[in-house]
Amino acid sequence: MTGKIIGTGSYLPELVWDNHKLTEWLDTNDEWIRERTGIGQRHISKDLGAGKMALEAAKKAMEDAGKAGLGAEDLDAIFVCTVTPDIMVPSIACEIQKMLGAVNAFAYDINAACSGFVFVYNMAVAYMETGLIKNALIIGSEQLSSMMDWNDRSSCILFGDGAGAVVVTACEQKGASVMHSDGASGEALQCVTGGKLSMDGQKVFRFALKRVPEVVEEILAKMEMEKEQVDLFLLHQANMRIIEAVIKRLGLEPEKVPSNIDRMGNTSSASLPILLDELNREGKLRTGMKLVMAGFGAGLTWGAGYITT
Ligand code: ACO
Repeated sequence: MTGKIIGTGSYLPELVWDNHKLTEWLDTNDEWIRERTGIGQRHISKDLGAGKMALEAAKKAMEDAGKAGLGAEDLDAIFVCTVTPDIMVPSIACEIQKMLGAVNAFAYDINAACSGFVFVYNMAVAYMETGLIKNALIIGSEQLSSMMDWNDRSSCILFGDGAGAVVVTACEQKGASVMHSDGASGEALQCVTGGKLSMDGQKVFRFALKRVPEVVEEILAKMEMEKEQVDLFLLHQANMRIIEAVIKRLGLEPEKVPSNIDRMGNTSSASLPILLDELNREGKLRTGMKLVMAGFGAGLTWGAGYITT
């Protein structure tokens, strides 16, 4: 059993801060940020929190899924992943269920940081395997600007705001999931409720370079697939240098590893669904494609998922 994409949507705040904007108060420059991260700009949400951004992305994904004949009442589950919830009770997912009129769905939020979308997608497929659900709406939404220390130039340059949503339906084809956590290394990326993010950038960098290639190889082995059989590898958009290093280490064709980090920065759990929505709207997702997604982030957490179109 695997998941098949039948609708995508995203929401990006109108306000855009390019690297030059950050130099108004930070001792940094466009060249350093581009060279070390590949990031040129990020979206910043001043008015909408993670809940409202998630709703906007969800509405667009449902509109897209409507073309395949799927309506809100056909949803069996709604999952939202976020590390920046603007409401805690009820969950953002329940709010979205209400707003969409998805009366047959159960709904809840999870936090697996930047691995959130991969983890929650794998969780949805596991529910599909038990027969509990057939159709799920999965959303990653983050207002990371609210947890940045905007005077910490080693972290605030990396992150951006936005939301992405994907409607997934159960598909009777082989699938595979890989998920790992290492709570003992959690101090590498931390934020207490209402506080500001602190990060050991080099530690996270080394962790990503080791673990992302590992999980991609792990999922290919579980799928009994060669990398050449995969149409696209969708990697969490954290740093272009990490993406390029993974391409090199695994010997992937760069055209098969799309990226939008130059325009988005790192949007944590929203990065993969925003990327999927971009690809979909650009007509780059054709029926029957084989996609491998890989994520890593705070926890520490890392994992990979297989999805088709
Ligand atoms: N502008 C200019 N100079 C800077 C900046 C900046 N924004 N930030 C740091 N520097 C300086 C440092 O002070 C240091 O100066 P020094 O040599 O005089 O001491 C120098 O640049 C090098 O700093 P490093 O920290 O060694 O730079 P590095 O090449 O490691 O890049 C970065 C830092 C971009 C943070 C990198 O380590 C990284 O991308 N790590 C991964 C982070 C990541 O992906 N986090 C998200 C994980 S996903 C999640 O769950 C949130």
